[in-house]
Amino acid sequence: MTKRVAILISGGGSNMVSLVDSMAGDHPARACLVLSNNHDAGGLQKAADRGVDTAVVDHRPHGDDRATFEDVLHARLRDAAPDILCLAGFMRVLTEGFVSRWQGRMINIHPSLLPKYRGLNTHARALEAGDTEAGCSVHEVTPALDDGPLLGQARVPILPDDTPDTLAARVLRQEHILYPAVLRRFAAGNRAMLSLP
Ligand code: GRF
Repeated sequence: MTKRVAILISGGGSNMVSLVDSMAGDHPARACLVLSNNHDAGGLQKAADRGVDTAVVDHRPHGDDRATFEDVLHARLRDAAPDILCLAGFMRVLTEGFVSRWQGRMINIHPSLLPKYRGLNTHARALEAGDTEAGCSVHEVTPALDDGPLLGQARVPILPDDTPDTLAARVLRQEHILYPAVLRRFAAGNRAMLSLP
């Protein structure tokens, strides 16, 4: 049976677009909802243009009360009845309570070769460390930040004149290949690690 996929975003949503566009033809899944915590997320219009339902659950009225925000988020997601949640540039840290409700069904893309550089500013940190390669990872979401079993990684070289922005652009191009490839396998029940290129 076709799987239903909800995608959580906070910004431009270029990974979301690559996921939505990949779910066509004989793909085992379809997008059922794109949800943002931010009304201004540019990805919302891109999702609507693709005929995907959109929703906003603003975190700001809940202040520091993550549990209440997540209860509203969970309720909206439950209405869409997704089988899989994809985090795609969703800039809220999720509590253990939320994660445990979706564990095994929630995946994330992170712009580093995990376990290196969990958290933010991954490209600047790779450059500062003098690394010669960088990349991106898709992993199952567990309560610890940017942790959880790896489902796929893609590598890119770091070039001598790279800045965080040039490196980010090179990695992002690979994100748009890796994430759809992993989602397709995940939706078909394959959780084996995928290494690209
Ligand atoms: C990507 O670099 C992703 O790896 C990170 O946030 C960024 C989101 O970009 N988690 P976009 O909104 O998908 O364009």
